[in-house]
Amino acid sequence: MSGSDDLRRRTVLRGAALTPVAGLALTGCAGAEDDRDSSSGTPQPGTALGPESDVPAGGSKVFDQQKVVVSRTEDGALKAWSTVCTHAGCVMTQLEGTTITCGCHGSRFDAANGQVLNPPATVPLTEVPVKVENGKIVTAEAS
Ligand code: FES
Repeated sequence: MSGSDDLRRRTVLRGAALTPVAGLALTGCAGAEDDRDSSSGTPQPGTALGPESDVPAGGSKVFDQQKVVVSRTEDGALKAWSTVCTHAGCVMTQLEGTTITCGCHGSRFDAANGQVLNPPATVPLTEVPVKVENGKIVTAEAS
């Protein structure tokens, strides 16, 4: 076997080895896409999330079904964010304190303000306007 044959053989083998890896990566992201809402990834205004009492002062709570994390400041104000990761669209459910972590590639966000704490994400979470009606947190129209 000549040197160029050997080089060509290695190039082909390397390409074959990389192809399944790329396929797996695409499969993982495609699964995440299925969990996303069709438009902005946020629920429609008027969507009930849960009891206001579920979110303690200085804490956060993930509402899995609606893909929203709600945080309450120490003075009682509520802020909410989409749990759709801004890196590649995975839906996040891992919350510790006010830090929400993406299980796909490890991005972390501060659920108190939506900011990125850890890459690969670089874009803050999408804010979801919320209000309280009859003791329940409900998504609101953007102001
Ligand atoms: Fe990549 Fe969340 S989708 S870190």
